[in-house]
This record gives sequence, structure tokens and C-alpha cells, in this order.
Amino acid sequence: MKISYRFLVFSLFSFLLLSGCGTKQETGSSEAEETGNIQPKFTIGMSQCNLGEPWRVQMNLDIKNEAEKHPGIRVTYKDAQNDSLKQRSQIEEYVNAGVDLIIVSPKEAAPLTPPIAAAYEKGIPVIVLDRRVLGDKYTCFIGADNIKIGRAAGQWIAERLGGKGRIVELKGLMTSTPGQDRHSGFREGIKGSDCEIIFEADMKWLEPDARKEMESALARFRAIDLVYAHNDPGAHGAYLAAKAAGREKDIIFVGIDALPHEGQVYVKQGVLQASFEYPTGGKEAILTALKILNGEGAPKEITLRSRVFTKENVDQGGEWLDEDGEE
Ligand code: FRU
Repeated sequence: MKISYRFLVFSLFSFLLLSGCGTKQETGSSEAEETGNIQPKFTIGMSQCNLGEPWRVQMNLDIKNEAEKHPGIRVTYKDAQNDSLKQRSQIEEYVNAGVDLIIVSPKEAAPLTPPIAAAYEKGIPVIVLDRRVLGDKYTCFIGADNIKIGRAAGQWIAERLGGKGRIVELKGLMTSTPGQDRHSGFREGIKGSDCEIIFEADMKWLEPDARKEMESALARFRAIDLVYAHNDPGAHGAYLAAKAAGREKDIIFVGIDALPHEGQVYVKQGVLQASFEYPTGGKEAILTALKILNGEGAPKEITLRSRVFTKENVDQGGEWLDEDGEE
């Protein structure tokens, strides 16, 4: 009797702590942390596909900043260094270590599907962040709608070019779902216009690869009106190639991500004419993890919103893609 009463009190206490009751968690450093009284109750393993890109560093930071507000959880991090096999083993290691929940931002859909499904089937909740896996053997997917972003980029570009132009498309890794979706959405967006894709290549999300591909495009085509790159590092790599060839002023550059200290700065500098936001979802991943660990459950899919940043609106915080505007 005595044990179960103590257990009840402990459970209630943990529940209140993790469900965000009271205002303490929102203040960052909590009373509990200051007095050192509270041991984390849950361990979360985070597998990041690489930390070589600013956007992924920002995702881990967003996770860390939110996690620090909740003393009931401890997050450990692994960096797969852009290697799907390594990321596979990292997920298996988290399962063997008995973590309470896994957050994974997978490099590629197919190779990461089996280890994520295996963890999920063992009863470990898995939050898939930003890039998708195949099938539905995971707890929750969090990310923005890449088809919608690609479509909005296509419509913006067709309008900017007055319905006609020669475009270079520098694609993200086409074995990852954002690359596939930003491509198909874009094609939908320019449909019906006289915009023509004169060159396309997979730059695998990487600035140096984008720069190399753009050098080939510049060598082959005298007239290029616009570069649509699936991320801002790709658009910046293309810009650098054009600049080296003395042709950057003839070409419009458009990217995706719009990090405040990367894409938004390029827009302010006039390097990019537009960047479409791709939020990292780091904060939402922690808030969702808390709900799952509390037994409240989570929706299968959380879709984050996106804004477009241009020179005209960047100082006002961009413009939401949703027709209804404000948050
Ligand atoms: C970083 C990144 C971002 C992009 C996202 C898509 O690795 O390439 O630039 O928006 O991944 O998953």
C-alpha cells in the first residue's frame, strides 16, 4: 500500500512537471535546476543526419533551447555526418541503450525506414523531423509542406519572370523527400507559363556541389534568367559561380530555408531575390516529445508554416504562404 501511494505521488508530480503545468518551465532555468533537485525522468536520443550545414546546427540549437526549459528530460545527440549507414546504427544504438524516445532527422528515406520501423515496433516512440521515411511505422512526422513551398516558389518565379524565362534548377538530394517535393511542387507552380528548365542537376543540398553544377550550366548556356535552388546554400553556391564568371547581375537567384543569419541576410544583400522559409521544427519536436512521454499522444503529422522573404518584406518578417496571412 505504502509503495503504491508513494508511486502515485511521484507519478502525479512527474506528470505536472512534464505537462508544463505552472509557468516554471517557460522561464528557461527552472527552480528545480537551480536547486539541483530534479533528475531527468526521460532520456531522448536525437539523431541528426549531419552538422555540416547551418540549418542543421540551428535545428539542434532549437531542440536544445526548448529542452532546457524542461528539467524532466535529457537529450543526447548523435551526428551521422551525412552517412545513412552510420545513421542507421545510431538509431539501433539508441534502441539498445533503452532511450525513452527517439527524434531523427533522416538523411534519406529508404535506408532509414527499417531501423526507424524496428524502434517503433519495439515500442519506442519515434519523431521523424524534416525529411520523411517510407510507410507509417513512426509515431509523428514534423515538417513544413515542401510541395506547397515548391509550388509557391514556382508561382513567384513565373510571375517575377513575366511568364517567360530560362531557368536552372539545382535540386536537393533526390533520395530525400524534400528534394522530390520541392521539385514536383515547383513544376506545378510554373505550369501554364513559358518558363523553361534549361539545366537541372542534383547538388545534394551542398554549396560546393551547387557551385560546380552552376559552372557547367554557365559554360553551356549564354542566357540564364534565373536559378531556383532547393536550399539557400545551393543558391549561394550558384551565385558565387556566376560572380566568378562576371554574370551574377544577369541572373536572379531564389533559394529555400530563409534562416535569419543566412538566407534572410542574402535577401537583404540582394544576393537572393527570394528565400522561402523551411522551419527546423526543433522546438515543436521537444513539445511533441513531452506530450508523447506524458501519455497524451500526438498527431501522426504536424505541418509547420512557411513564409517568403523578399527585399520588400524581409524587414517586416516576410509574408506567410497561407492565403489567410497572419498567425
Ligand atoms: C540541410 C538541408 C536544408 C534543407 C533541409 C531539407 O541539410 O539541406 O538546407 O532545407 O536539409 O531536408
